[in-house]
Amino acid sequence: MEMKEINNEDVCAILNSIMEYELAGVVRYTHSSLMVTGPYRLPIVNFLKEQASESLLHSQQAGELIVGLDGHPSQKIAKIEETNRHTIKDILEEALEHELHALSLYKKLLASVADASIYLEEYARGLIGEEEQHSLELKAMLKDFGSI
Ligand SMILES: [Fe+2]
Ligand SMILES: [Fe+2]
Repeated sequence: MEMKEINNEDVCAILNSIMEYELAGVVRYTHSSLMVTGPYRLPIVNFLKEQASESLLHSQQAGELIVGLDGHPSQKIAKIEETNRHTIKDILEEALEHELHALSLYKKLLASVADASIYLEEYARGLIGEEEQHSLELKAMLKDFGSI
């Protein structure tokens, strides 16, 4: 198989957008976990807290790759919209939107590293799998609200 040349600068730019987005996920999910009310709140609070921790882990993983590629990890976080809508349905819908955008960033990464680095390709595929799984989970949770 012929391997392409990896463009460190381009890959680091995408990884930095991933890092900033995942860090925004930490804040978003922490905020959401605090806003859940009602009789079903406990499992949902736990789910959202888990997503916050996982977002932190994902941002750290992206940061490590940036350093490995001689880039500089960002200290910024992506913009988070405050919709002031905090019903469980709203929170889950916003979480699904967040996951789908994360998924699109990892797909963008995959496109830029495909056939150029097996390691980064595997990493991108693994994260695509994880984010897809989160999206499916959220879609299943939203089914009860009849919005999917
Ligand atoms: Fe993530
Ligand atoms: Fe996720």
